[in-house]
Amino acid sequence: MQAFLKGGTSIGTKPVKDKASASGTGSTGESKKQKPIPWVEKYRPKCVDEVAFQDEVVAVLKKSLQGADLPNLLFYGPPGTGKTSTILAASRELYGPELFRQRVLELNASDERGIQVVREKVKNFAQLTVGGTRSDGKPCPPFKIIILDEADSMTSAAQAALRRTMEKESKTTRFCLICNYVSRIIEPLTSRCSKFRFKPLADKIQTQRLLSICEKENVQITNEAISCLVEVSEGDLRKAITFLQSAARLTRGKEITEEIVTEIAGVVPKETLDSVLVVCQSGSFEKLENFVKDLINNGHAATQLVNQLHDVILERGDLTDKQKAFITEKLADVDKCLTDGADEYLQMLGLFAVVMQQMTQNS
Ligand SMILES: Nc1ncnc2c1ncn2[C@@H]1O[C@H](COP(=O)(O)OP(=O)(O)OP(=O)(O)O)[C@@H](O)[C@H]1O
Ligand SMILES: [Mg+2]
Repeated sequence: MQAFLKGGTSIGTKPVKDKASASGTGSTGESKKQKPIPWVEKYRPKCVDEVAFQDEVVAVLKKSLQGADLPNLLFYGPPGTGKTSTILAASRELYGPELFRQRVLELNASDERGIQVVREKVKNFAQLTVGGTRSDGKPCPPFKIIILDEADSMTSAAQAALRRTMEKESKTTRFCLICNYVSRIIEPLTSRCSKFRFKPLADKIQTQRLLSICEKENVQITNEAISCLVEVSEGDLRKAITFLQSAARLTRGKEITEEIVTEIAGVVPKETLDSVLVVCQSGSFEKLENFVKDLINNGHAATQLVNQLHDVILERGDLTDKQKAFITEKLADVDKCLTDGADEYLQMLGLFAVVMQQMTQNS
């Protein structure tokens, strides 16, 4: 066992040594450039001012940065809209890099957050008293911050255990709960916090951010590709930046076009969607079966198809409202089944059979 451990550590330390010598030989700027940091992390807002589009939250946080008191906070909204970044940036500004570790306890869904942890870890941390100055002499608020990220995954028992702690320790501790689904936070907790909704980022803001990243990273991109990125990411800036980075890797210096973005985002081509509807209109089940087989063989994700088909169906002028209602109800069913792990082939077949039924009723 010892030998194994020894072996393990030597393997573990080797790459670190290599890295150090590599950065020692080359210029530091060069080695920094080569460090593969994902762009989402590289361009994560460092201060509250850099957070785009979430004006109310930024205004409140800036007030508290100027010395006013901070309420308990509840941030909620869709993924990739800046919730985690905002509170981390605010805490850094409040405490500076040194005190940050002492004053901020960040727990997310990857940490154990059952009732026992809330009783012990959170309570103990909350009970510590703190002073009002930083080591560099600057004043800092006389409280600590406990960030409970992805709080919607906490059990309601653990949430309930927070209720009294939150009130009792209000002199020394502020809580910041972050979640995607505010309905999964129990009522007594939401009523103890100031709620802030994070909106999906507007197209214009996303475009600006993406363009500035492209400029900094020397990436050539067409205007159509940018609007395609914005469209497929649906207000989720993290998704847009990730797609952009993958596209940049793929083209390696050449211009990024709309087709490349579509390919990377796994969007089903418009022609495929059109031909689905043509097959449904034909009324032949045999044709439909073959088509679905092809579709699955091409590796298109069924959930993606459901999402895109939804938009197409709503825009069709040749379907009555009642027919659209039937189809969208089936879309909702299929979406749920797919999330639960149902077979893609059968679900697609079932979905298109309903579309076919509705479309052929017309003629
Ligand atoms: N409002 C914003 N301003 C600037 N950058 C943003 C904003 N929202 C998201 N980003 C970018 O997206 C990345 C992810 O943001 P963040 O981790 O804050 O999302 P989140 O809201 O916590 O999402 P999740 O609910 O999935 O945890 C950031 O690193 C940043 O690059
Ligand atoms: Mg987050």
